[in-house]
Amino acid sequence: MLIIPDPALVLLIGPAGAGKSTFAAAHFSPVEIVSSDHLRGLLANDPADQTASADAFRILTLMVAGRLKRRLTTVVDATSLRAANRRKYRSLAARHGIPVVAIAFDLSPRAYHDRNRGRTDRVVDEDVVERQIEGMARTMAALPLEGYAALYVLRDPHESIIAKRHGSA
Ligand code: UTP
Ligand code: MG
Repeated sequence: MLIIPDPALVLLIGPAGAGKSTFAAAHFSPVEIVSSDHLRGLLANDPADQTASADAFRILTLMVAGRLKRRLTTVVDATSLRAANRRKYRSLAARHGIPVVAIAFDLSPRAYHDRNRGRTDRVVDEDVVERQIEGMARTMAALPLEGYAALYVLRDPHESIIAKRHGSA
């Protein structure tokens, strides 16, 4: 069972196909989820348009900051495979005394590729997924040292997950 403080900043971490958006939709309300894909879609009419990424992440950061200032639980739905991005979110949360919970989707390479291929929304290029899988290996080594209030690692793609929110921090 995942225990998630309320409020919290929740970072969903994993390559394309990991199941981050599916998890977010199952456990959080749409207004709590800040998604890089969704913002690219709003900016460029296409969630996969990487030319909109820089603008999307600027808005994402503003959204996270604005919600944390209001002490509202916020879920970052992006791959978050870059240490510098994670550090930025942690420092925003620390500024407002909000705990950060990291949820890493550490599946087998095959599971990411299978899920990616089976998608109905958009299929991400296999080379891109492959690079993200390499990034995930580095990320998994780094996460325990980054000082999260809780670090959950999901390994079984078929596991049904119960997430419980508690208290007010
Ligand atoms: P997601 O679309 O949730 O992945 O699932 P993601 O991590 O958010 O990917 P990016 O980063 O936005 O690209 C990918 C596929 O895996 C299936 C979903 O239905 C979707 O087709 N899936 C997800 C499962 O079959 N089981 C799960 O538990 C989660
Ligand atoms: Mg997604």
